[in-house]
Amino acid sequence: MSTSTKQVHLALTIAASRVFLEASYIDANNHSGVLYRSVYTLLATFLEVDVFSLDEVVPWGRSFDEYRLMFALSDADIESRILGCADGPAGFNAEATRRGGNVVSCDPLYAHDVAWIRRRIDETYDTVMAQARENLGEFVWTMFGSVDELGAVRMRAMGEFLDDFELGRSQGRYVEAQLPVLPFRDHSFDLALCSHFLFLYSEQLGQSFHIESIRELCRVAREVRIFPLTALGAVESPHVGPVSRLLEDCGFAVSIKAVPYEFQRGGDRMMRVSAVSA
Ligand SMILES: C[S@@+](CC[C@H](N)C(=O)[O-])C[C@H]1O[C@@H](n2cnc3c(N)ncnc32)[C@H](O)[C@@H]1O
Repeated sequence: MSTSTKQVHLALTIAASRVFLEASYIDANNHSGVLYRSVYTLLATFLEVDVFSLDEVVPWGRSFDEYRLMFALSDADIESRILGCADGPAGFNAEATRRGGNVVSCDPLYAHDVAWIRRRIDETYDTVMAQARENLGEFVWTMFGSVDELGAVRMRAMGEFLDDFELGRSQGRYVEAQLPVLPFRDHSFDLALCSHFLFLYSEQLGQSFHIESIRELCRVAREVRIFPLTALGAVESPHVGPVSRLLEDCGFAVSIKAVPYEFQRGGDRMMRVSAVSA
């Protein structure tokens, strides 16, 4: 079976399982999520579709100030109930919590303990810095004057995450979870933010994964914001147009907004998605 045929089969079977689970009156927020994830994983394995491996995504995190700019967050946004999906070792949750905010972060990385995450960040540091030096032209060097300054800001943000992680996990602020299925009740959040995961890994994550994931984010939050809309290599993600149109066809309001942040060249826009009735 070709990869595209498998992906079509997977998408159809996922849709069928969702209809089946919804029709079975299973609690939509708890049991169906677990069942749906199991069905998804089993089918993906059966159909030999490449399920995205965590190892392909580097544990690398941005700061609270970067999140504020990337998602054009107002003071009112920051005071609302926020889900940071794929937050990894970003410093956003730690700093927002320190300021009295209400942020839950979710990421498969949180299955690990702080020592493991710290080791992975340290192992990754030299590679990420070397890649930045080799591809200087892919970035806009106004916010950070040099690769060394970039490294210092990011390590400070990740240090804030590491210092906060064990306490935050015990408080339920860091939850192990992965798209396209999240363990949260419908409308648990006002805003879901997804930074540097969807659209960025466009080669590894297909269109149906994007659709399923954004629908799931819209289930748990009133509004979803995704940044950036560029893929790795600072090229426009091929999924942005088709995913926007498909979401609109499914009844979601989709808009693309310029934001006051550009580090990856051309990465200065976010996508906002909400259910039309929201
Ligand atoms: C490049 S990091 C971005 C971290 C943070 N959002 C930021 O911008 O600083 C991408 C994150 O996606 C997470 N990830 C990988 N697969 C995922 C999935 N299926 N669902 C949610 N997050 C995932 C990784 O663990 C990693 O922490």
